Amino acid sequence: MDRFKVYITRQIPQEGIDLLSRVADVDVNPEDAPLPHATLLEKAALYDGIIGLLTDRIDAEFMDAATQLKGYANYAVGFDNIDVAAATRRNLPVSNTPGVLTDATAECAWALIFAVSRRVVESDAVMRSGSWSGWGPLQFIGGDISGKTLGIVGAGRIGTATALMSRGFGMKVLYTSSSGRRNDILDSQLGASLVPFDTLLQEADFISIHAPLTEQTRHMFNAEAFAQMKQTAYVINTARGPVIKEDDLVAALQTGQIAGAGLDVFENEPNMAPGLASLDSVVVLPHIGSATKSSRTNMATLAASNLIAMLQGRQPETCLNP
Ligand code: DGY
Repeated sequence: MDRFKVYITRQIPQEGIDLLSRVADVDVNPEDAPLPHATLLEKAALYDGIIGLLTDRIDAEFMDAATQLKGYANYAVGFDNIDVAAATRRNLPVSNTPGVLTDATAECAWALIFAVSRRVVESDAVMRSGSWSGWGPLQFIGGDISGKTLGIVGAGRIGTATALMSRGFGMKVLYTSSSGRRNDILDSQLGASLVPFDTLLQEADFISIHAPLTEQTRHMFNAEAFAQMKQTAYVINTARGPVIKEDDLVAALQTGQIAGAGLDVFENEPNMAPGLASLDSVVVLPHIGSATKSSRTNMATLAASNLIAMLQGRQPETCLNP
């Protein structure tokens, strides 16, 4: 039987490539940079299957070019880069990688909660600069975490894991739900409360964003939302950058409308809004939520096994088409 031809738009962990190589000849983008869209369109026409990243736009133009494509596997759980409806109309199966990066991303949210509230990055910078003069009662005073209220926006897999990790800190947990459905795990294990978005904004001390990027969530955190938050509250984002209107966040931080922000994702990656990087009340990370050895390896093998299924005409384990 002829071997399939597969293209991967950026180097991924070798385990995924090895798995694919059992059934396909695999080519990988040799550059350590996102593939230009024009190159992606050229590749679309030449391969039976593609594994791509959140930086690849899998839109109608891509699908029109992809005349022999049997399936597209996203190396990410988020899939706002894919026009799933267009893929479904063309009978093109598409998949993502849910479940294998849940804890890693939740841990990243907690890393940001600690770093921004306890001013870890600022303090580290002072130590490295050699300018620390010794212990002082008023130095680097931050916000408390234990006993505070955690607000989860988007209580799916990662939001739920983030909330469960608050158990060690005796926090009260509030959450929102776009479907209006209660989260049984959070209700039974944490006594959490499903609340309207406005209530969460007004009552939470830490708001952790885990909602997918959709037309409903784009710029959900804007000037009006920040105006409702406590001046002592922090916003944490490990989901997708455009859920926050970044210019409004900068203004809210500059005026002391909110206490701080911990961000792993940005509205226009790899750029940040002007003014953000000069604020001490912000901790910024280069989109590393899933960047643990096991998560990235499991993402690679899940994307590969999804693509193999699609090439062989089977339903992928984590299919996005309805
Ligand atoms: C995802 O999977 O959606 C993350 O943003 C990258 O791992």
